[in-house]
Amino acid sequence: MADIQTVGVVGAGTMGNGIAHVIARSGIKVRLCEVEQRFLDRGLDTIRKNMAREVAKSKLTQPEMDAALARISGTLERTALMDCDFVIEAATERFEVKQAIFSELDAILPEAVILASNTSSISITKLAAQTRRPDHVIGMHFFNPVPVMKLVEVIRGLATSQQTYDTVKALTERLGKTPVEVNDAPGFVSNRVLMPLLNEAMYAVMEGVATADAVDEVFKLGMAHPMGPLTLADFIGLDVCLDIMRVLHDGLGDPKYRPCPLLIKMVDAGWLGRKSGRGFYSYS
Ligand code: CAA
Repeated sequence: MADIQTVGVVGAGTMGNGIAHVIARSGIKVRLCEVEQRFLDRGLDTIRKNMAREVAKSKLTQPEMDAALARISGTLERTALMDCDFVIEAATERFEVKQAIFSELDAILPEAVILASNTSSISITKLAAQTRRPDHVIGMHFFNPVPVMKLVEVIRGLATSQQTYDTVKALTERLGKTPVEVNDAPGFVSNRVLMPLLNEAMYAVMEGVATADAVDEVFKLGMAHPMGPLTLADFIGLDVCLDIMRVLHDGLGDPKYRPCPLLIKMVDAGWLGRKSGRGFYSYS
């Protein structure tokens, strides 16, 4: 573990900037890679805001924040990751996008470097097969908001070695998170169980069983969930929820995973939840 000094993070979106945040906060240097300057600027800006929030809550001191920010450097060139000791990919949740990134990283990085993916549903085994180092490929699934949520679901692909798993477990703990080991399967554990709950909540709204507010109240007050399932679906992004339901439906072949027609309709309308300003709720 002492030899992980610089971690490359591919993608500065919601998950990527959160991952860069926690890595830099733990004392490790981060090279944050994006495809366009405006995405990089937005990611770095979010990290600054979220760290300032931690300073305001006395979870971080101002000098610690300054030092953490100084550990992060942004780049638009993937080749700038070639001297990283570990890389986490947190790009768009599409197989073709991740496949291209994994092939490229495999070509430029020394073969001992581990390539991790923050995918929430794409097969680690299939991503690993795009490289010449399938034993060094693993899933490292963080949760939103990354600086707050304690879990990292660590996913073993079919070829992932024990050494790779042990390194990722130790890195996760160094970041102040708790690793939970799971095997590669559609949706892993988190989304295999969470998404059907959100999908069923959508059916309840679609069928007029209750309003979105009422469904959420049931879960907040009756089950002590911090957010009701429809608020959570808006928070995750309805497009992401639909993609994951499709992965479950295709991968497991059981009709119980069919996406709710209301979810499909809302995504078709561009109602993607919080990020688009409208989902089950409106956001100004
Ligand atoms: N960065 C740093 N700190 C943050 C933060 C961020 N982005 N967002 C919130 N916080 C901090 C706040 O400062 C606050 O700190 P204190 O406890 O010191 O006051 C704390 O987190 C709680 O935040 P708030 O008081 O603003 O609001 P809240 O109490 O309503 O909590 C929440 C917000 C943490 C998001 C909470 O509602 C929650 O836990 N929701 C459920 C989130 C969840 O389920 N995430 C998983 C989604 S699934 C996923 O990510 C993976 C997938 O594959 C789909």
